Amino acid sequence: MSNATDTPIQSVSASTSFPEGFRIVHKRRFMAEGNTKYMLPSDDEELNRLDYQHYVIRHLIYGNFKAPLDSELEKGIRVIDVGCGSGIWVMEMAVDYPRSTFVGVDCAAVFPTKDIPPNCTFIRGNTLEGLPFKDESFDFVFQRLMILAFTPSDWRFATRELARITAPDGFVELIEGDFFVQSAPAAYAPLYNAIVGTAASRGIDLSVLHDLPSVLSDAGLVDVKADYVSSPLGWHGRVGDICNKSMKNLFVALKPSIRPVISKTDEEYDVMAEQIIDEMKEKKSWSKIPCAIGRKPRRG
Ligand SMILES: C[S@@+](CC[C@H](N)C(=O)[O-])C[C@H]1O[C@@H](n2cnc3c(N)ncnc32)[C@H](O)[C@@H]1O
Repeated sequence: MSNATDTPIQSVSASTSFPEGFRIVHKRRFMAEGNTKYMLPSDDEELNRLDYQHYVIRHLIYGNFKAPLDSELEKGIRVIDVGCGSGIWVMEMAVDYPRSTFVGVDCAAVFPTKDIPPNCTFIRGNTLEGLPFKDESFDFVFQRLMILAFTPSDWRFATRELARITAPDGFVELIEGDFFVQSAPAAYAPLYNAIVGTAASRGIDLSVLHDLPSVLSDAGLVDVKADYVSSPLGWHGRVGDICNKSMKNLFVALKPSIRPVISKTDEEYDVMAEQIIDEMKEKKSWSKIPCAIGRKPRRG
């Protein structure tokens, strides 16, 4: 196997439209700056996957968020989505709550730059370099699906940043996805081990997911509540179909990062992923979408 496609693109000629700050790995575009340990691609195909996943999660949690902020959002508050990806959450929230103001921040310039609601802005920012906002700038700080981006110490730093930019009595909300599949087919074990192992080789520990309440309380947040919703993978009617499709999309997105450690060709990987996805239907497999919220205490 040639490693030519693993080589970061160092120079970008003016005649190509390939943007700076990215590299190609197995035909997918990844960040080459910002957060290079992040395990998923940063390209149009990934943005489509994130949008699909957004609708799946919105369906599963009966809305876009869990924090008790509906009436405040109606009246008008300041909201930020940290690691906003395609920006779909921010854009939808901005339309749903026109009196509130919304910011989406991401270390990769993948968010929209046009056709943005007037109460919504996007900027580049790397949480791990400190978010470019003053203390207490937001009443609602939202962060979703960052488990493949942070080491445990990154989590500590990042969550302190989220707490720092939250105003007193404001809320921080975390929503994540768990790779551990309940009632999983046996064929999933090597894939799961490859995900955990590849993450570990970058310092990323997926078990942080199981302790989101401590992540929030260690950052000084109080009244911490945590829960999860179940994602049926290919059964339980149409919701199961969309959850299973979202899982399949995730296996495709992870392929460039994990295929090298499971010694499969491109085609073998696809066959294995397809088989797992089919068997999840028979086994009635399911996974968890963990959510946690915490409130910033008042001063004094
Ligand atoms: C799995 S995507 C989730 C996107 C969005 N939150 C959603 O739920 O659809 C993770 C996003 O986090 C961004 N990201 C990774 N590390 C980051 C960091 N250190 N600071 C800011 N954004 C980061 C990635 O560029 C990517 O867009």
